[in-house]
Amino acid sequence: MQPVQVILHEGADVQGFRRAARSLIARRIAPPDVSWTCAQMPELFANDEAEAARPFTLPRAVAELIDQALCHRDPDRYSLAYTLIWRVLHGERAVLEVQSDPLVHRLEVLRKAIGRDLHKMHAFLRFRQLARADGQEQFIAWFEPDHYIVEATAGFFVDRFRGLIWSIFTPVGSLHWDRENLIIGPPGSKADLPESDSFEAGWTQYYESTFNPARLNPDLMRKEMPMKYWRNLPEAKSIARLIEAAPARVEEMIQQEMAVSAKRNPEKAVAEMANQNPQSLEALNRIIAAAEPLVPGATRAVLGEGPIGAIAFVGEQPGDQEDLQGRPFIGPAGQLLDAALEKSGIDRRRVYVTNAVKHFKFEQRGKRRIHQKPTAGEVKHYRWWLMKELTFVKPRLVVALGATAALALTGKAVSIAQARGRTQFEDFPGFITVHPSYLLRLPDEAAKRAAYTAFLADLKQIARLAQAEPAKAAAAE
Ligand code: URA
Repeated sequence: MQPVQVILHEGADVQGFRRAARSLIARRIAPPDVSWTCAQMPELFANDEAEAARPFTLPRAVAELIDQALCHRDPDRYSLAYTLIWRVLHGERAVLEVQSDPLVHRLEVLRKAIGRDLHKMHAFLRFRQLARADGQEQFIAWFEPDHYIVEATAGFFVDRFRGLIWSIFTPVGSLHWDRENLIIGPPGSKADLPESDSFEAGWTQYYESTFNPARLNPDLMRKEMPMKYWRNLPEAKSIARLIEAAPARVEEMIQQEMAVSAKRNPEKAVAEMANQNPQSLEALNRIIAAAEPLVPGATRAVLGEGPIGAIAFVGEQPGDQEDLQGRPFIGPAGQLLDAALEKSGIDRRRVYVTNAVKHFKFEQRGKRRIHQKPTAGEVKHYRWWLMKELTFVKPRLVVALGATAALALTGKAVSIAQARGRTQFEDFPGFITVHPSYLLRLPDEAAKRAAYTAFLADLKQIARLAQAEPAKAAAAE
C-alpha cells in the first residue's frame, strides 16, 4: 500500500498536525504507513474532514511533549509525534515513564533544545523604538531562533509587554501585538528594523549596570550568550570594554560590599577581610584606603606611617586634623606626643605611628566636628587590619596609647590604671600607657603635670625595652 501523504505548512504546524493525526487515527493508519512533508501549500486534510474525525484525548504530559517537539527543525518531528500518539492510544499510556525508550528519548532531546531556544529568545531579544507617523510608540525586534518557536513564545512577550505596541520579526515568522490582539504573521527581515534609538541606549546602560565583573568568565559568557546573538544586541558593543575594566571593578565591588556587610554583620566582615589576604603592607594599605568608613563622614582612611622594625605606637582613631591631612598624630594630641617622645630621647621619625580605628568618627556641631569614641564593635571590626599591619611592620615593641588601643590589641576591655606597663599583645612584646589626649583633657594643672611626668617615665621605659628587644625585621629577612 502506498503511504498516506500528509503535507503540512513549513514551521511548527501544530494545528495542521492535530487535524491530520485525528484523521489518521480515525482511519487506523499506522505510523509506518504515513509520509510527512512540509511545504508552502494548504494541508491535505480539509477542515471539514478533520472536524468529522473523532477526537482522542492524550495524557497531558504527552500532549505537552508533542507541542514542544513540533517546534524543532528536525524533519522527523511529525513522524515521531504521530508514532508516540499511536503507541499511547494502543495501550502504552505510560510510555513517557520509560526514559530509556528510544522514541521517548529522542522526543525529550527535541524538547530540551526547544527549551534552550525559548530561553535565549526571552533573554536576548531587544526591542527598538519606531517613530510612527501617528505619534504612537511602537517597538520592533529582530531575532533569529534556531527552531520554530515564534508562536510558542508569544504568551511570554504578551505578558511582559502587554501595554506596548510591538512586533517581533524572525526569519520563520512574526508576532504583532497592538495591546489587545495578537497576530501571527509571515517571516520578516532585519532590514525592517530601525538602526538605533534611545531605547538601545537604555538597554546598553541597563546591561552595563547589571554586568557583574566578579562573575566574569568569558568562556562561560560566550556559552550563555553565544556570539551569534551578539550582533543583534546593542549592549554587546560594551562587552569588550567591560571585560577589560573588570578586574578594577571587582576590587571596587569587594570594598563596597565589605563596607555594607560590615555594617550589617561585623563578624562576617572580619572574615571577609581575612579572605583578601594581602601579601604586603602596601597591599593592605590599598585595601584600607579603598574601604568605606563604618560610620559615614570621614574624609579618608588614615594609614600608619614610620619605619619597619621600630617601636609601633597605636592610638585610638584619627582626629579632625589627621582626617583632613591624612596622617596620624599631627593634631594637638600628636604635638604633645612628639614633645614627650623628644623629652624621652625617642625620635618621632624613627617610630611607627598608627591607630586602632582607621577612620575619624565625629558628630557635627555647627562648623565643628566633635570626636566620638568608637564602639567596641567598631574597634573589633578594624582589629584584623591592625594585627595584619603589625605583622608587616614587625615592631620591636607595640605601645597601646589608651584604652581603645589596648582593647584593639588585647581583644578585651582593659583598665589603663590596672594594666599600665609591660605586657604581651599576641606575638608582640607590648606596653600599655595613657593616650596623650587624656593628658590634654585633665582640668587640673597639677594633675596634668603629674600625669605628664608619669607618661615621660613610661616612654623612657619603652625606649629601654625596645633596645633590649631583638630587631625582628632584620631577623625575619
Ligand atoms: N588621636 C589618635 O588616637 N590618633 C591620632 O592619629 C590622632 C589623635
